[in-house]
Amino acid sequence: MNLILLGAPGAGKGTQAEKIVEKYGIPAVSTGNMIRAAIKAGTEMGMKAKSYSESGQLVPDDVVIGIIKDRLKEKDCENGFILDGFPRTIPQAQALEDMGVQIDKVLDIEVPDDKITSRLSGRRVCSKCGNSYHILYKKPKTEGVCDSCGGELVQRKDDAPETVAARLKEYHELTEPLKDFYRELGKLVVVEGQEDVADTTALVFKALED
Ligand code: AP5
Repeated sequence: MNLILLGAPGAGKGTQAEKIVEKYGIPAVSTGNMIRAAIKAGTEMGMKAKSYSESGQLVPDDVVIGIIKDRLKEKDCENGFILDGFPRTIPQAQALEDMGVQIDKVLDIEVPDDKITSRLSGRRVCSKCGNSYHILYKKPKTEGVCDSCGGELVQRKDDAPETVAARLKEYHELTEPLKDFYRELGKLVVVEGQEDVADTTALVFKALED
């Protein structure tokens, strides 16, 4: 099963990707995580992406398309994958088509803008392993400490309220047109994001099984 997760920043793509990985055993390919890892490691790609990503702008298409081309060739993607955060623009979606990648479903998780800001302002991520938490909705066992590796939990630079506004603007202008792109291909399934993570997951699994 080859899937795309669409949705605004903070709609819950990463959270739902983890649930699909657990149930279906296919890898999640998150361009956001790959970009943050490259920035942390100080690679050439990371240096190119840093100013865009941290100010809430999209990284140039050619950089991200290159990352995905290499990643989808890896062995663990042979039996399926979940694309979390790619494509984000029409040229990226077109590049995926040109690569001959067959997509089975595109799940669009819909959450209104006013809920996004509170979700993202409460998100904390592990500075060591990148695991994601929320101060209200997904609390770690010990405040400020990662359950998995004991690393310090910090706020992502792009989760500051003014940067979230920039990300939402980019989303509405550049990413939302992908809904029509995939609707026309008959692949779009809309899931209304719920207050409770488990309720959204139930809708996501139902959408995958229909
Ligand atoms: P990326 O990391 O992809 O960021 P994003 O799309 O903005 O998505 P997020 O990771 O912020 O949110 P999410 O939808 O995964 O939500 P989550 O599950 O964490 O990209 C970052 C940057 O990299 C971009 O801005 C860009 O610069 C660059 N980039 C990446 N891909 C690119 C591309 N293809 N092209 C160009 N540039 C690219 O949930 C959010 C919070 O809410 C969590 O704390 C979670 O616990 C909580 N939560 C989740 N579900 C619920 C619920 N149902 N109820 C309550 N809380 C919930």
